[in-house]
Amino acid sequence: MAANKLCCTLAIGALLCLGFAALIQAQDKPVTDVCLGCICEAISGCNQTRYCGGGVCGLFRITWAYWADGGKLTLGNESPQSEDAYANCVNDPYCAANTIQNYMTKFGQDCNGDNAIDCYDFAAIHKLGGYGCKGELSYQYQTQLTNCLNSFQQIDVRSSI
Ligand SMILES: *[C@@H]1O[C@H](CO)[C@@H](O)[C@H](O)[C@H]1NC(C)=O
Repeated sequence: MAANKLCCTLAIGALLCLGFAALIQAQDKPVTDVCLGCICEAISGCNQTRYCGGGVCGLFRITWAYWADGGKLTLGNESPQSEDAYANCVNDPYCAANTIQNYMTKFGQDCNGDNAIDCYDFAAIHKLGGYGCKGELSYQYQTQLTNCLNSFQQIDVRSSI
């Protein structure tokens, strides 16, 4: 009887632990890989050629301020104070993606008022910033994002993008 009870307690503990781990993981990385891929596709055609211009850099077209708000991540042990730290990070797909995850952890919100925080919101925040995400997106950006997400929707349910 006592052994049974202990076993039960342990099992519930393990479940709670797993639940917390999943929650922390989800909070850690709010944006799915499909969503990252579609933002990349919509904003640059996911062109991985090193690029800086018009105040943005990299395949996700990230500004210096966005990178700073995203935690000033750097490649290798480059100092965030280094002149090239921003350009080097956001031109790297992984450093850029982690910058986005950090930025969305900070600024994630329901921009379009549909009572969900999903890729449509993240894409708006990505383009318009954490304080302006209710604004207008260009037709091209919106269309490319939607087409990309729809092409994955056949494999994935909407709630997981
Ligand atoms: C990728 O970007 C580079 C630099 O901006 C450009 O020269 C090149 O044409 C682009 N490639 C594609 C496939 O669009």
